[in-house]
Amino acid sequence: MTAHFIGKPQTRVDGPRKVTGDARYAADFNQAGQAYAVIVSATVGLGRVTGIDSAPVERMPGVTAVITHRNAERLPYLPHKAGIDPAVGERLHVLQDDNVRFYGQPVALVIADTLDNAERAAAALHVSYEARQPLVDPTVAQSIVPDGAMVDRSRGDADEAMARASVVIDETYNIARENHNPMEPHATIASWSGDRLTLWSKSQYLVNERAEIAAIFGLPVENVEVICPFIGGGFGTSLRTWPHVTLAALAARHIRRPVKLVLTRRQMFFTTGHRPRTFQRVKLGATPEGRLVGVAHEGTGETSRYEQFTEALTTVTDYLYSCPNVRTQYRLAQLDTSTPNHMRGPGEASGIFALESAMDELSYKLGIDPIELRRRNEPQIDEAENKPFSSRSLMQCYELGAERFGWARRTPEPGSMRDGRLFIGMGAATATYPAFHAPASARVRLLADGMVEVEAAASDMGPGTYTSMTQVAAEFLGLPLEQVRFRLGRSDYPQTPSHGGSWTMASVGSAIRAACLEAQAQAARHAVQDAGSPLSGARMDDLEWSEGRLRRRGDASAGLSYQDIVSRTRVPIEAAGSAQRDPKVAERYSMHSFGAVFAEIAIDPDIGTITVRRIVGAYGIGRVVNPLLARSQCTGGMIGGMGMALMERTVLDPRDGRSVNAHMADYLMPVNLDIPELEAHFVDEVDPHVNPLGVKGLGEIALVGTAPAIANAVFHATGKRMRTLPITIEDIL
Ligand code: MOS
Repeated sequence: MTAHFIGKPQTRVDGPRKVTGDARYAADFNQAGQAYAVIVSATVGLGRVTGIDSAPVERMPGVTAVITHRNAERLPYLPHKAGIDPAVGERLHVLQDDNVRFYGQPVALVIADTLDNAERAAAALHVSYEARQPLVDPTVAQSIVPDGAMVDRSRGDADEAMARASVVIDETYNIARENHNPMEPHATIASWSGDRLTLWSKSQYLVNERAEIAAIFGLPVENVEVICPFIGGGFGTSLRTWPHVTLAALAARHIRRPVKLVLTRRQMFFTTGHRPRTFQRVKLGATPEGRLVGVAHEGTGETSRYEQFTEALTTVTDYLYSCPNVRTQYRLAQLDTSTPNHMRGPGEASGIFALESAMDELSYKLGIDPIELRRRNEPQIDEAENKPFSSRSLMQCYELGAERFGWARRTPEPGSMRDGRLFIGMGAATATYPAFHAPASARVRLLADGMVEVEAAASDMGPGTYTSMTQVAAEFLGLPLEQVRFRLGRSDYPQTPSHGGSWTMASVGSAIRAACLEAQAQAARHAVQDAGSPLSGARMDDLEWSEGRLRRRGDASAGLSYQDIVSRTRVPIEAAGSAQRDPKVAERYSMHSFGAVFAEIAIDPDIGTITVRRIVGAYGIGRVVNPLLARSQCTGGMIGGMGMALMERTVLDPRDGRSVNAHMADYLMPVNLDIPELEAHFVDEVDPHVNPLGVKGLGEIALVGTAPAIANAVFHATGKRMRTLPITIEDIL
């Protein structure tokens, strides 16, 4: 098949809607007669609500209701576990009792006719507490072994091997808690009609939000619909259905009117997940030639008291390099804070900071170039799973990246590169992320006007799903892009997995391909069964599709378009398609994306500022569906990685666990002035095993590897090893 659209740099099909303000985000869906709800958040870190003085607030202008645990309807909270929710623990039951489990937990909801009135009344609501000292410092928390799937792994005897290794690195690494902070705040508008509920809600997982809210309210799933056509950034924060969604629905039922609930930026730090703070220890033992003989990686991440959030903190170490003796261990520290959640490149991004910093340290100790050290430990197979990789282009990524970056100009000695008074540092690190593929479905409708509608319950938080899925459908139908209308953002569309984990194109794209092929087959059957059709009675084997037209093989006539066929069927042709990974393939291959990230930084020795001058990433991600979107994904991920390395840190007050920097002035993130030239390159990689499209995903890997590349560059510039993120001026001086 000649690709017409897949692999082409198509600009965003939804671009005009976004730049003209026509794209509507959750909070933009105003409903007739809606009221406004504002959450009142707990101001103690642990304890009990002992009193809420609702009466004076209920008399304030415009106030419709004050809902607290005393008057809130009792909700059934039926069991519901989606794959991405913590498998262990029980979710927060909001406004169902007087317990305060963490600072910022919703303890009341004030509803009024305008946002102003609701905010004023919420600010006036007096809540009294019986407070206890919460445990919010993971360094003093007892660590626990997570229940369930995240087991410790080992092969060989890492500790014995390390004891007789010629060179050993043994260091600890500490990464701050981060909050996702997308531009668009969380928002939900809830509207009931009898026992049917419609939610306009920011969500990366509409299918789950519908099921979760149905379970909380004890409704059949069909009674709930979630609508979310646009998302203004997610990074994982909208993968779960957080308490405010329940509160919006609860409030709308309480006052029998639609209710709009938008979180404040400050509230986004309380109940909508965060990247857990992590502590890691990495030990590497090597021969003088730089062959790894032993690797041990122990990691602990924070979680809440009521749920065990786990992520792939140490699993990368199992497969990244060749080594006969490897031991990895994962623990959790339970705190009196809300539950963390996946944040872009979850687990892998944190884990690889430790591993790739340690590899860099090892390279200096051995006097071997960091890239050469990785080459010497490149495995032939996934040694943890003992099976081949479906594709692995790590060394090609290093070659391409090194060439584009100009690694050859680097002089290895720390502090040896200068630009005037500035110290220049160049660092590199490996990136990797699994190539997932989850069951998904899609629907294709061929219309009589020649248009094609494609639907799936996916989201588009920014990667360009509208565009890339349009490309996939146009490709397999052989139609121009203008004839394809791809719709997403409704939970009653064909079911898809979460919009996360870098699996949307693999999963939903494969389903769309299947639906397109099925629609084509149906159209061909109509053409041959239709007595009035020029192809009437033809054998299917003798027919072929080309450029969206059906002809007899070798026939030079115009043939029949979908429109020609549908105009005679009188009803649209509708086809469903689904896709999932063949379990036999999953059994046979280890499937991951790989990449190499290079960073150049400049340090002012007098004031300690670190300026990132360039980042170059080279990735092996299978087929690239749209190079423009792919580049945009990668540069966005690099910016997230810069934030992780140099800026982002949510600081908790040890007295009550409040985020002391819960606002954009003190929660630092890279802005345009901080962001340098960013380059993303893709190696030619064909992976015939991962999925029918051959795509391995790149949303998450784009962040992985950036932070260690920067930290390694800081060492190269200064000779100071940075093992705590974010790296600050104080660390340099
Ligand atoms: Mo991604 S952390 O699965 O949104």
